[in-house]
Amino acid sequence: MAMRTIGELVREGTARLATSGSDTPRLDAELLLADAIGADRTAVIAHPEAPVGVDGSARFREHLERRAAGEPVAYLRGLKEFHGLAFAVDRRALIPRPETELIVDMARAELVERLTGSARPAGTPPVVVADVGTGCGAIAVALAVALRRLGMLGEVEIVASDISPEAVDLARENAVAHAVADRVGVVAADLLPPAGLAVPPLRMRAEVDVVVANLPYVRSGDLAGLPPPVSFEPAAALDGGPDGLAQVRRLVDLLPGRLAVGGVALLEIGAGQGEAIAEMAAERLPGWSCSVSRDLGGLPRIGRLERAGAGRQ
Ligand SMILES: C[S@@+](CC[C@H](N)C(=O)[O-])C[C@H]1O[C@@H](n2cnc3c(N)ncnc32)[C@H](O)[C@@H]1O
Repeated sequence: MAMRTIGELVREGTARLATSGSDTPRLDAELLLADAIGADRTAVIAHPEAPVGVDGSARFREHLERRAAGEPVAYLRGLKEFHGLAFAVDRRALIPRPETELIVDMARAELVERLTGSARPAGTPPVVVADVGTGCGAIAVALAVALRRLGMLGEVEIVASDISPEAVDLARENAVAHAVADRVGVVAADLLPPAGLAVPPLRMRAEVDVVVANLPYVRSGDLAGLPPPVSFEPAAALDGGPDGLAQVRRLVDLLPGRLAVGGVALLEIGAGQGEAIAEMAAERLPGWSCSVSRDLGGLPRIGRLERAGAGRQ
């Protein structure tokens, strides 16, 4: 078969994916071709006339068919951009979503305030962050990278946990790849790891200053109606029980025993769960304050629960 150019393969791939139901056929085709030929998407757009070798064409066509069958582009490429970083992703964990970047920004702001808002004499213990349900490590690793850029990571310890051992392995790989494994300990646990557990290179302290969590929040009954690519992701990463908030509720119930006085929990929720998280906080965490932040689309996205008190460090 004659050698095809980049432009021809993008057109062919776009047409194939448009008929198979992708919402973004051209983007998908460009990303898959870039991956197949070891280039980035900019090069694919800039050089439509360039020939593509036999191996690149074959790899592109194989991935095109898998994409047409519903497999997400991120799993085919083996990576997903999140908070400006490339994360390794595969079927061991959920693909991080852009709306989750908000929780990283909010956690960074909380930590900057804690680390700069008052004097921290030598010997002050690090601020402890727990990322519960870390998946591929997106929140923990992006937060660590952001803090390292600010020169603040040395004063923070991040414990990232997930109930899935496969996700834990992937999160560890991402912590190493982004050179933050010295401050991000990853461990398999049901919600918060027990106090005192060794989480190399850290130890899980009894008290946590900031909890971040993007736990499953889809109602079990809604899972079957999600778009086809979602069926490739682990069901345990999405299934939030009958009302979607089963895991969030369990975590909220742990907070009085584990969150430091003055501590904050940032919990990602579904767009329709803003009132439910406020009611949950009022009922289960009397005296705490609760606010709900909206994402760029204006939808309720993060419940911020603060334990009143002057003990903030
Ligand atoms: C929606 S995914 C989010 C993953 C990641 N935080 C992100 O934002 O991309 C939820 C994650 O919570 C984990 N999970 C579910 N139930 C859990 C539990 N009881 N304890 C710890 N992790 C849990 C799942 O395995 C999954 O990795």
